[in-house]
Amino acid sequence: MSPDDPVRPVAAPAQLFDLTGRTALVTGASSGLGHRMALVLAHAGATVAVTARRTDRLEALASLHPAIHPFTADLSVAADRERLAADVEAALGTLDVLVNNAGLSHSSPIEAETLADFERMIDINLTSAWHLIKLFGVGMVAAGRGSIINIASILGIVGATPSKQTGYPAAKGGLINLTREMGLQWARRGVRVNAICPGWFATEMTDDLLSTEAGVGFVERNTPLQRAGLVHEIDGALLLLASDASSFMTGSVLTVDGGWTAR
Ligand SMILES: NC(=O)c1ccc[n+]([C@@H]2O[C@H](COP(=O)([O-])OP(=O)(O)OC[C@H]3O[C@@H](n4cnc5c(N)ncnc54)[C@H](OP(=O)(O)O)[C@@H]3O)[C@@H](O)[C@H]2O)c1
Repeated sequence: MSPDDPVRPVAAPAQLFDLTGRTALVTGASSGLGHRMALVLAHAGATVAVTARRTDRLEALASLHPAIHPFTADLSVAADRERLAADVEAALGTLDVLVNNAGLSHSSPIEAETLADFERMIDINLTSAWHLIKLFGVGMVAAGRGSIINIASILGIVGATPSKQTGYPAAKGGLINLTREMGLQWARRGVRVNAICPGWFATEMTDDLLSTEAGVGFVERNTPLQRAGLVHEIDGALLLLASDASSFMTGSVLTVDGGWTAR
């Protein structure tokens, strides 16, 4: 859209979120938020490639909707990322929507975190997103359209302690500023780049914390809305950023955190 385009009359606002005819890739779709987001994009009309290491989980997900297509990859391996980009583009063409969601956390104060732990956090949470933005974004820029959504974290905005983590908040903070920079680099090229920062959600990643009474108490006491998020509570932010409903948003960092970062 350009400033010269006429303002659209208000007709059917829900159509704003329609993704019919669009293609998408969701990384880390074998569980948690990624599994949910792949289904939401497919139900909104998109053809959706999904990736992760666990092929059985991806196939089970694909069996839930005919527009979902599995591609196994270990995103900590550069050659896998390159193969994934080639395979997905060969199957689906240039992407309209890339959701960089795959992630891994590691709780540790710095004294106990090894260099290998730190590098693992950076590799999967930041380097792999950078590489997929580069691999898929070039096609998007050539097509003059696209929406890239990076799933960062509240722990990329504020520190984690008292839940001590070191490499993870560093990587997510990097992902947030990579989002801003790419939003700027491609602002005149038709490709929008935004981030979603979830608060605490019950997924495999938070199993250790949220399966204990103390962990649930910690989240309830410290989240203004007094609970963890439910996976469906990511749907609205995802559909907003994936669709034309966010046509004037780029470089934005959207929190879905029950108020955690408002304190
Ligand atoms: N849950 C929360 O409270 C929370 C809060 C803030 C941000 N987030 C972010 O939200 C995103 C999704 O997390 P989640 O909570 O849904 O966690 P999850 O259920 O543990 O899902 C993580 C996903 O990442 C994939 N993954 C991990 N390492 C990978 C690798 N080397 N190659 C390919 N895929 C890999 C996993 O698939 P495989 O194991 O099958 O490879 C899995 O599908 C992450 O980026 C996370 O940091 C979560």
